[in-house]
Amino acid sequence: MKVERLILVVTFFYFAYTQLVNGQPRNDCKTSCGNVTVEYPFGISHDCYYADDPSFNLTCNETEQKLFFRRNLEVINISHSGELRGWNNISYACYDSQGNPNGSCYYEYTLGSLSLSHKNKFNVVGCNAIALLSTFGPQNYSTGCLSTCNSPPVANGDCNGAGCCRTDVSDPYDSYKFETRPSRLQNMTSVYDFNPCTYAFLAENGTFNFNALEDLKNLRHVSKFPLVLDWSIGHQTCEQAGNTSICGMENSTCFNSARETGYNCKCLEGFEGNPYLSNEHGCQDIDECTSTIHKHNCSDPRTCRNKVGGFDCKCRSGYLLDTTNMSCKLRDFEWATILLGTTIGFLSILLVVSFVQHRMKHRKIAELRQKFFEQNGGGMLIQRLSGPGTSNANVKIFTEKGMKTSTNGYDKSRILGQGGQGTVYKGILPDNSIVAIKKARLGDNSQVEQFINEVLVLSQINHRNVVKLLGCCLETEVPLLVYEFINSGTLFDHLHGSLFGPSLTWEHRLRIAVEIAGTLAYLHSSASIPIIHRDVKTANILLDENLTAKVADFGASRLIPMDKEQLTTMVQGTLGYLDPEYYNTGLLNEKSDVYSFGVVLMELLSGQKALCFERPLQSKHLVHYIASAMKENRLHEVIDEKVINGNNWKEIEEAVRVAMECTRVTGEERPLMTEVAAKLEGLRVTKTKHQWSDQYPGEVTENLVGVEILSAQGDTSSTGYDSIKNVASMHMEAGR
Ligand SMILES: *[C@@H]1O[C@H](CO)[C@@H](O)[C@H](O)[C@H]1NC(C)=O
Ligand SMILES: *[C@@H]1O[C@H](CO)[C@@H](O)[C@H](O)[C@H]1NC(C)=O
Ligand SMILES: *[C@@H]1O[C@H](CO)[C@@H](O)[C@H](O)[C@H]1NC(C)=O
Ligand SMILES: *[C@@H]1O[C@H](CO)[C@@H](O)[C@H](O)[C@H]1NC(C)=O
Ligand SMILES: *[C@@H]1O[C@H](CO)[C@@H](O)[C@H](O)[C@H]1NC(C)=O
Ligand SMILES: *[C@@H]1O[C@H](CO)[C@@H](O)[C@H](O)[C@H]1NC(C)=O
Ligand SMILES: *[C@@H]1O[C@H](CO)[C@@H](O)[C@H](O)[C@H]1NC(C)=O
Ligand SMILES: *[C@@H]1O[C@H](CO)[C@@H](O)[C@H](O)[C@H]1NC(C)=O
Ligand SMILES: *[C@@H]1O[C@H](CO)[C@@H](O)[C@H](O)[C@H]1NC(C)=O
Ligand SMILES: *[C@@H]1O[C@H](CO)[C@@H](O)[C@H](O)[C@H]1NC(C)=O
Ligand SMILES: *[C@@H]1O[C@H](CO)[C@@H](O)[C@H](O)[C@H]1NC(C)=O
Ligand SMILES: *[C@@H]1O[C@H](CO)[C@@H](O)[C@H](O)[C@H]1NC(C)=O
Repeated sequence: MKVERLILVVTFFYFAYTQLVNGQPRNDCKTSCGNVTVEYPFGISHDCYYADDPSFNLTCNETEQKLFFRRNLEVINISHSGELRGWNNISYACYDSQGNPNGSCYYEYTLGSLSLSHKNKFNVVGCNAIALLSTFGPQNYSTGCLSTCNSPPVANGDCNGAGCCRTDVSDPYDSYKFETRPSRLQNMTSVYDFNPCTYAFLAENGTFNFNALEDLKNLRHVSKFPLVLDWSIGHQTCEQAGNTSICGMENSTCFNSARETGYNCKCLEGFEGNPYLSNEHGCQDIDECTSTIHKHNCSDPRTCRNKVGGFDCKCRSGYLLDTTNMSCKLRDFEWATILLGTTIGFLSILLVVSFVQHRMKHRKIAELRQKFFEQNGGGMLIQRLSGPGTSNANVKIFTEKGMKTSTNGYDKSRILGQGGQGTVYKGILPDNSIVAIKKARLGDNSQVEQFINEVLVLSQINHRNVVKLLGCCLETEVPLLVYEFINSGTLFDHLHGSLFGPSLTWEHRLRIAVEIAGTLAYLHSSASIPIIHRDVKTANILLDENLTAKVADFGASRLIPMDKEQLTTMVQGTLGYLDPEYYNTGLLNEKSDVYSFGVVLMELLSGQKALCFERPLQSKHLVHYIASAMKENRLHEVIDEKVINGNNWKEIEEAVRVAMECTRVTGEERPLMTEVAAKLEGLRVTKTKHQWSDQYPGEVTENLVGVEILSAQGDTSSTGYDSIKNVASMHMEAGR
C-alpha cells in the first residue's frame, strides 16, 4: 500500500519535473541549417522546438542545406522578437498576343500559427492587371490591387498604379494560409508587346523597386522576394501567462506581441542571448567593452568597465575620468592622498617611536633620580623630618627638574662663584624668589647619614647673620643645597676687590667683626646643636645691601658623638685661616674657629690678605705680619689707613690685641667666641679702652664640641684660596 502510494507520488513529481524541463529544448539540438540559425522556440528536430505549437517545427533539407517553414517557405532568418523571414515566390498569369492565357502560377503558403506581417506589401505588376491576396481561416478575406495602363509607363521605382500597384497587408492572426492570384481586367491585346504577364507577390517593404520596362516585360527572372511572418508564443498575454511564460529565467522579460495574440521574450538591456532559453545560451551579460556588436560609448576604451547589465566609463581605481576628453588620468588628489597618507603614516611611526623613546628616557631619568635620591639619603631625610626633634627644621626638598629650571639649565651666566669644592648658581624659584644653589660634595656613601644630619641641623639655624639653608635637592648625583641669596658679595671682595664702591669704614668693620663673632659664638654655644664652622674666612662672609655680615659656607656638618670633646677628622679649611694646632693634630674643636676669626679680624684691621707672597718671607702669613709689627712697635705701618680716623687708635689697638689672642698657637690659650664677641661689642658700644684679660678659662663647654662643620661646600669666591685646601688636606686617621 505504502509503496504504491510512494510510487504514485514519485511519478507525479517526475511528471511535474519533466513538464517544467520540457519547456526547454534538449541541449544537443541542431541550431543551424545551412546559413540559417535555428533557435528555440523554433527547432528542426524532436524535443527542440516549442512543443505546444507545431508551427515551430521547421524542416531542414540537408541535401539543399535549406530551412523550410511548413515545408514550402524557405526561411531566411528568424528573430527573437517574433519575426520569421522567408522567400516568397511570385505568382503570375501570362497571355499570348490574342489575349489567351498562356501559362499561370498561383502560389499559396501555409501560415500555421504565424501571420503576415504589416511590414509586407502586396505588389501587382502589369497593365490593366488586377490581383487578389486571399487569406483563409475561420473567415476568408481578400484584398486586391488594380493597375491600368495603355502604354508603357516611364516612372521607375514608383509603384503608384501605373504598371505597378502596391497595397498594405492586414492579416487576421487566425488565418492558416494565404494565396496571391493575378489576372487581367479585360481582353487587352494592345499591351502584349510590352507586358505579356501579370505578376502578384508579397514583399517586405522596401525590397522591391519597380523597374517599368524590365519588370513589365518579365519579372519571373527575379522569382522571389522576402516575406515577413510574425510569430508569438501561445495566445496569452504576458500578464496572463505570468510565471508560466517560457521567457528564460532572469534577465529575460516578456512582452506582448504586436499581433493580436501571444507574447514574445527579450533580454534585458545589457544582456544578449536567446531570451527563450534559461541555460548558458539564455540572456547573458554583454561585455560591452570587448563586444564588437554592442559597443560601449566610452570615448577612451581604456575607461570602459563592464558591469552586469551594462558598463561604466570609469577609470581604474586611483584614476579619474576627465570628462573633457573622456580619458583616464591619474588623480592629482590621489597623489596627494598617497603622499599625505605616507607622510602621516611615517610621522605617526616617528611620533610613536619618539614617544616610546621619550618615555623610556623619561623613565631612565626618573629611575636615575630615584637612585641618586636614595644614594644621597633622601629616604633618610624624609624619615628624619617626620621623626621627633626636628620640629624647627624647615627643609624643603627640591626636585631635580625644579633646580634645572631655576638655574636655567645650570647656565654659565648663573654661576655666582666657582671653587675647588663646587659651584654656586643663582637660582630663581617659581615664586620669583632668588636663591643660591650650591653643589655639595659627599666624600663617600658612608657619610650620607651625617650629611643628612647636617642638612637638618643647618636648616634649624635661624640667625640673622647666618645665610639660611632653605632646602636641598638629592636627585642629582651631587646633592644641591639651596640657600637664601645674599646679593652684595663677600667680605673678601669688599676688602681686596675693586668691584665694590666706598671702602669699609672702621665702624663698618667693627660692626661686621662683632656680627661674625656673635654668630660664631651663637653657633658654638647657643644653637640647638653646637656647630663648628671650620672654614671661617672673609671669602665666606657675605654682605647684604646694608653691609650686614652673613656667615656662609657651612659645609654640611657631621654629627659627632656627644661624648667626644674633640674630633679627629680629615683636616679641612683654608690655608692662612687654618688653625695650626688642628692642622698638626687633626684634633678639631671650636677654638679652630676662633683662630680663623682672629685672622679675619686682622684682615679687617690691616686690609691685607691672610696669605700674601709679596710680603717678606717671614711675614707671608698675616698673623706673623701683624705679630712682628706689634713686636717691633710699628703697628701704624700695618693698619689699613682707611680705618684710622684720628680718635679710634685705642680701639684699633684693642682689636689687634683681640685678634692676637685669637690666633694664639695653642687652642687652650685662645678666648672663647662668646668672650671675643663680648669684647668687640664692648669696643663698639663704649668706644672706651677695656683691659683685656689674658686669662681665659681653658675649659670647653660640653655642648660646643658636639658637631663639626664640614666645609664641603664650594666657595662663593674665586680668590684662589681653595686650591690651598689641597695642600692643607690630609687624611688624619682617627687614632683613638
Ligand atoms: C551561405 O552564405 C554564404 C555567404 O553568406 C553564401 O555564399 C552561401 O551560398 C550560403 N549558403 C546557403 C546554403 O544559403
Ligand atoms: C515535425 O516535422 C517533421 C517533418 O517536417 C515531421 O516528420 C514530424 O512529425 C513533425 N513533428 C511533429 C511533432 O509534428
Ligand atoms: C531535399 O531537396 C531535394 C531537391 O530539391 C529533394 O529531392 C529531396 O526530396 C528533399 N528532401 C527532403 C527531406 O525534403
Ligand atoms: C518557388 O519557386 C522555386 C523555383 O523558382 C521552386 O523551386 C519552389 O518550389 C517554389 N516554391 C513553392 C512554394 O512553390
Ligand atoms: C534577416 O534577413 C534580412 C534580409 O536578408 C535582413 O535584412 C535582416 O537583417 C536579417 N535579420 C536578422 C535578425 O538576421
Ligand atoms: C506561351 O508560353 C510559352 C512558354 O511559357 C512560350 O514559349 C510562348 O512563346 C508563349 N506564347 C506566346 C504567344 O506568347
Ligand atoms: C473559405 O475558402 C475555402 C476554400 O476556398 C472554403 O473551403 C471555405 O468554405 C471558405 N470559408 C468560408 C467561411 O467561406
Ligand atoms: C479578344 O479580342 C479579339 C479582337 O478584338 C478577338 O479576336 C479575340 O477572339 C478575343 N479573345 C477572347 C479570348 O475573347
Ligand atoms: C515602407 O518603407 C518605406 C521606406 O522604405 C517607409 O517610408 C514606409 O513607412 C514603410 N511602410 C511600412 C508600413 O512599414
Ligand atoms: C507562479 O506564481 C504563482 C503565484 O504568483 C505561484 O503560486 C506558482 O507556484 C508559480 N509557478 C511557478 C511554476 O513558478
Ligand atoms: C541577471 O542580471 C542580474 C543583474 O541585473 C545579475 O545579478 C544576474 O547574475 C543575471 N543573471 C544571469 C543568469 O546572467
Ligand atoms: C552612452 O550611452 C548611454 C546609453 O547606453 C547614454 O545614457 C550615455 O549618455 C552615453 N554617453 C555618451 C558619452 O555618449
